[in-house]
Amino acid sequence: MKKQKEVKMIKEGAIKIPNNPQYRRLKEFIEENRNKKDFILQILLEAQKIFGYLPEEVQYFIAKETNVPSAKIYGIITFYNFFRTKPIGKYVINVCLGTACHVKGAPRIIETFERCLGIKVGETTEDKLFTLSTARCFGACGLAPVIMINEEVYGKVTPAEIENIIKSIEKRENRR
Ligand code: FES
Repeated sequence: MKKQKEVKMIKEGAIKIPNNPQYRRLKEFIEENRNKKDFILQILLEAQKIFGYLPEEVQYFIAKETNVPSAKIYGIITFYNFFRTKPIGKYVINVCLGTACHVKGAPRIIETFERCLGIKVGETTEDKLFTLSTARCFGACGLAPVIMINEEVYGKVTPAEIENIIKSIEKRENRR
């Protein structure tokens, strides 16, 4: 609710859009796809690919370039859970919440990650190393409970292993 108000407050000239390669790439994409079906969705997906997430100034830029109202753009972003409005961590931890994983203890896996990282699902650690998220069935139900950290799949995960998984990534990143 609060966010919707913030978006409505965006006015012409209120946000300075830098003339950098990321925005130039997005502008080109908008020009090329302007008349295609579902073009706003495609543009938002491309913008998230370019920027990693969809901050307010990117939403404003898209609204301005496409003449689609900011409120409509914000509505699309909030409707689809794969869009993000906050920066994500270098490592995105996705805990599967599909039926098989749920039955085999996924809720405890989530609780343990939340405790070890000090964040809730949907949040990112302060050092921007981890984002905790959930997903529905990775198609590896035989390995339940399953988590994915970026592209890497971890099967038959137990709560006891989680601290070590986190520590090994932190070590790799020289954070410990
Ligand atoms: S339910 Fe988790 S991988 Fe299928």
